[in-house]
Order: sequence, then C-alpha cells, then structure tokens
Amino acid sequence: MTKNLTRRDWLVGTGAVTSGLVLGNNVSAQSISDFSAFGEAVTPENPIRMTNNENPYGINPKAMKVIIEAYKRAHTYNFTTGRQLIKIIAEMEGISEDHIAVGAGSGEYLVATGALCGITGGDIVAPHPTFGSILRSARNFGANVISVPVAEDMSIDMEAMRKAITNKTTCIYFSNPNNPIPSIIEKNVLEEFCLEFSKKAMIVIDEAYYEYVRDDNYSTMAHLVKNNKNIVVLRTASKIHAFANVRVGFAFAHPDTLKKLLMFRSGTTTHPSLMGAIESYQDAGYQKFVVDKNYESLNILYKMFDELKMPYVNAHANFVYANAGRDANEVRAKLRNSGILIGRKYDPFPNWIRISTAKPEETEYMVKVYKKEFS
Ligand SMILES: Cc1ncc(COP(=O)(O)O)c(C=O)c1O
Repeated sequence: MTKNLTRRDWLVGTGAVTSGLVLGNNVSAQSISDFSAFGEAVTPENPIRMTNNENPYGINPKAMKVIIEAYKRAHTYNFTTGRQLIKIIAEMEGISEDHIAVGAGSGEYLVATGALCGITGGDIVAPHPTFGSILRSARNFGANVISVPVAEDMSIDMEAMRKAITNKTTCIYFSNPNNPIPSIIEKNVLEEFCLEFSKKAMIVIDEAYYEYVRDDNYSTMAHLVKNNKNIVVLRTASKIHAFANVRVGFAFAHPDTLKKLLMFRSGTTTHPSLMGAIESYQDAGYQKFVVDKNYESLNILYKMFDELKMPYVNAHANFVYANAGRDANEVRAKLRNSGILIGRKYDPFPNWIRISTAKPEETEYMVKVYKKEFS
C-alpha cells in the first residue's frame, strides 16, 4: 500500500487528471463525449463528494445547453413551461396531467404535505431513521412525530408501522427507497398497506431514488393516486437528473389533494429549470448511464465491505449504509482530511456510515484511503 497516498497521486496514477475528467474505462467513446459533465481536472482542493447522494456526473450536457439558452428569456415571467413538463411526465407515468404538480424540488412538497398534515394536529408516523424534511414541517405546524424503529435487518418494519397507527394518526410517511438506509419496501406489502391505511390518514411516499432501483420486488405507488385522495407520491430531479441545485420535483396526487398542497408552496421553480427537466427526462440514455455507473460504484464499495468484514445494507439507491465498527464522526473526519466527504452520523446507529456513490474511479480511490486509514 502506498504511504501518504493523496488523491492527486492516485488520479495521476490512473491518468484521470491528465484527461481532465474522470470517467470509467468501459464507457464507450460516444458516451464519454455525451456525459463528461464537467470537463474539469480533479484536484485535492476539489473533494470527492460522497455525502449528499448527488449525481457525480452532473447535469446531462444536453439539458445543460437548454438551461443556459433558456436564461436568455429569464427576464420574463413564464407560466406555461411547467405544463409542458407535466404533459411529458403524465405520458411517462400513465397518470393524467391534473394529478401532477411540479415544484422547486420534492422538498417543497415535503414541506407542504408536512404542513397539511400538521395543521390539524395529530400524529405523523414514520420509520426511524428516515429523511427528515416532512417530519420537521409537520412538527412545526403542530403534529406529533411518532418514530418507528427499523427492523433488525434495517428494513422498514411494516408490522411495527401498522401497530403505531392510531385514531390520532393524520399522516404516514415512507421514503422508498429509504434514506439513510437504502432499503426498499416490497411492492405488494406497500400497496396493501396504502390501500388499507389511506382510509385513516394521508400516506406520503417519497420516491426520490426511484430511478435507481433495479429490484423486481419494487414498484412506484404513483398509480394509486388515480383513485385515492389520501395518497401522495413525490419524485425529484435532484438525484438521477443531477438537478439538486436546479430545483425541479413533482407531487402526484388527486387534484383535490394537490389543490390543498399548493396552498403551502410558493411556486419557485424557474423556466430554465423546467426547460432543462424537459430535456433530461426525455433522455433515457443518460439516466441509464448514471444508473449503470452507480451500480459499478456500489460493487466497489461492497467488495471493500466484504474484505473488511463490515456489515452493510444492500443498496437500492445511490448510497450505502455500512457499519464502520467505530464512531461515524471519527470516520467522517479522517476521510474529510483526505479530501473525501461522506454522510453524517444518524441516530440510533453511531457506528454506521452513509456513503454516497461517486464515479467508480473516485470510489476506488476512496476505498484505498479507507483501507489505509481503517484496516
Ligand atoms: C428521501 C429524500 N427525499 C427528498 C430529498 C430532497 O429532494 P429535493 O432536492 O427534490 O428537495 C432528498 C434529498 O436528499 C431525499 O433523500
């Protein structure tokens, strides 16, 4: 093992810096030119971001072009681009346009659904740990949060979720896949749950990582919104489309429910963002590329976990959750010193680390550093 390995040493060693961009060896020539999002050399001052479940390849270059072009019209108000995007998503999802609302990321709708559930008081029931936006919003608006610990295998404990629901429950939240634990809920189990409990409370299914899932036991619940006013499904362009700071997301729900949700949002997405999304959502090739690369990186991480005998959860998203056998903050700090950012510590698992996938070659580098520091 090289002593004092630096990120630059490694990248120079692999020829990545000289090429000015970092892509896997087995990407075809066509895909390299299409998908080299940044074209910038990686340096130690430019850390590998394995912390926020972002898409390391960035925005689809074709979408980027459209976004930049659209800024020429950004001095004008635009009230129609959202409808164009909704029409495309409606066709893709097989849902009618009046059941879809677009917004500035799904975060906007997590806050809105939290508010809608919170204003009536009562309980919002959610697995623990999970993504916190809706819970914070519901609490801010007056709800009581009921946290249901995940099962021993770290999957969402559906039996315990059932038991936690009372006549005070106004809202039930699932992130599917979950975050920070990248588990999924089996599609039949979730659908049955939704049909049964939507009679009692609003069910919010957050499908932020939907596009990454390759497991036949998984399905979107978007179809359920057609006939059910108490089910909301959320999607985002922040992950697979790399729009984290462009801000486009969707709520799928019955028109009456959408009307209520729209009272709690300000409508802050923009014409350039929407134009970019129109381009990106229609380019299946780029999305496949990102997902393929994600699974390449996941396999690199699994190999390390197996070698180091680190327990981990099988990932259905662009991040892993693994037991480092030591305090997560200690691991995080050491990796940060080597130019690698990983996720924060999540209660109640102080030794578990969430690592977002980077490009495979960056992930290889991370593995080298990790092994040097911790094995
Ligand atoms: C489960 C989940 N939902 C929603 C979001 C936020 O997405 P957006 O950028 O669309 O607000 C995230 C971001 O990490 C997430 O993990």
